[in-house]
Amino acid sequence: MRVAAVAPSSERLARLMTQEIEPLTGPILELGPGTGVFTRALLARGIPESALTLVEFGEEFAVRLRGRFPEARVVQMDAAQLGQCGLFDDAPFGAVVSGLPLLSMPPEKVAAIVGGAFEAMKPGGAFYQFTYGPRCPVPKLVLESLGLKGTRIGSTVRNIPPAGVYRISRQNPLELPIAGSKYRGAGDSAGISA
Ligand SMILES: C[S@@+](CC[C@H](N)C(=O)[O-])C[C@H]1O[C@@H](n2cnc3c(N)ncnc32)[C@H](O)[C@@H]1O
Repeated sequence: MRVAAVAPSSERLARLMTQEIEPLTGPILELGPGTGVFTRALLARGIPESALTLVEFGEEFAVRLRGRFPEARVVQMDAAQLGQCGLFDDAPFGAVVSGLPLLSMPPEKVAAIVGGAFEAMKPGGAFYQFTYGPRCPVPKLVLESLGLKGTRIGSTVRNIPPAGVYRISRQNPLELPIAGSKYRGAGDSAGISA
């Protein structure tokens, strides 16, 4: 219940989540890796472990991730702090893979997470998110306020429960998300340990 999931994601869902990512995509930011199902799928796609940054709120998960993926950068923090923590200013990511339970978060927190992620990404970068619901888990108003769009790129019944995968990208890749949107800057504060 603490992680808003009945079981870790299946390998099938992990493959769907990472299907568009390749070594040339660049460094990858993973949010809410948990036990590392999507992390392993990223490695299977040829992404070097040293190109992975894993942001995980749960201390026990973070400790285990450091043991399993010693060359990855594991940061224990609330993903809603991405835009304010200053940790990612120097290394723009090529993509973000998110296992976060966005449907159980208020829109302000979703906006802080997604907006912060796009600030840390190259202009053409995409944010991959799965959901157990029928629609994009980032609310339409949040997408619009940040200049983003959500596209369903796959679904699978081989997961408990069945899940869909969305690619969230900039409506215009040459424009940055709108600064000062009414949804920005509303993330909870939390300690960070990198
Ligand atoms: C539904 S689990 C997904 C785990 C794994 N990616 C998978 O698909 O099996 C959600 C994960 O996100 C982490 N998490 C939840 N809220 C978070 C937040 N605000 N910042 C960072 N991690 C968070 C949880 O600790 C948990 O590891």
